[in-house]
Amino acid sequence: MTFEFPHRIPLAQLPTPIEKLEVLTKSLEGPQIYLKRDDYTGVGLTGNKVRKLEFLLAQAIADGCDHVITCGGYQSNHARTTAVAAAKLGLKCHLVLRDGPTVPLEGNLFLSRLFGAEIEYVTPEQYMQVDEIINGVALDIESDGGKAFSIPEGGSNEIGVMGYVKAAEEIVQQLGNMDLPIHHIVVPVGSGGTYAGLLLGKYIFDLPGQVHGINVCDDKAFFVHKTQSILEKANKRYGLGLKVSKIELSIIDGYVGKGYGLSSQSEIDIIKEVARKEGVILDPVYTGKAMLGLVDQVRKGAFKKDENVLFIHTGGVFGLFPKRSLFF
Ligand SMILES: Cc1ncc(COP(=O)(O)O)c(C=O)c1O
Repeated sequence: MTFEFPHRIPLAQLPTPIEKLEVLTKSLEGPQIYLKRDDYTGVGLTGNKVRKLEFLLAQAIADGCDHVITCGGYQSNHARTTAVAAAKLGLKCHLVLRDGPTVPLEGNLFLSRLFGAEIEYVTPEQYMQVDEIINGVALDIESDGGKAFSIPEGGSNEIGVMGYVKAAEEIVQQLGNMDLPIHHIVVPVGSGGTYAGLLLGKYIFDLPGQVHGINVCDDKAFFVHKTQSILEKANKRYGLGLKVSKIELSIIDGYVGKGYGLSSQSEIDIIKEVARKEGVILDPVYTGKAMLGLVDQVRKGAFKKDENVLFIHTGGVFGLFPKRSLFF
């Protein structure tokens, strides 16, 4: 179908490469595992969130906003990426972060401060009403003569989702140039926007292969509902004519481990293994759990030996440093 993207401000280093994980593929004895290096989207801007922010911040500027507000855990990659992108675009960034203010100032949190974000720390109980807190911050900004654009957790709404529709277009072009058939795409799922975007990309750009999401928090039922909700809203906003209930979702549950942001020994081990065998840095919150899930699925025979699997490396490197004591 023909599709016209909404306005976008280029922020990410694109296209990101697709590379084969030779050693891992060999040690698992197939399928062939490829990596889409979305950890290469930038240094401060590393990871999947910048693709969403290209569309979200374009909308913020189109709406005449001079402030941007978002939220997340205190080590949120999305919060850090928003702080960096806002600094680049001359927007004032406000973050509502769960936990703190006694949490160590390191990793993503350190960078959010470095890039000038104003941070409000709230307890996990207060965070349950984060939308109201964000509305309050927006009202304060307004009463001071500013205008705020609010972004939900993870940037996962009908605007942010466009980042991964655009990524799907990019992947289709790359696979064509590489003459590489892909049978499965595997992506970590934290707030659902990346997964939903790839599914939309399948519909709009014929992204090949089945798209599987591995959830790193909550459960399958939660993300089926969340993904469908994002797809419905995108369907309506862009007039896509999509039958959302007909879209086949594949959320592979079972790899949340000890819980969101908590690491098990097998997750730490896979991060070490991929670092040492492939020279690739995974992160403990998203890509480490999802890679463990992928390897486990391969061992259980979920993919055929002669198939090609593309794992989306969604970044998260700065989340590794606060966890360093778990490694050695
Ligand atoms: C590094 C990283 N990978 C994956 C995800 C999951 O992406 P999404 O929130 O779009 O599901 C996130 C954010 O939640 C992230 O920061």
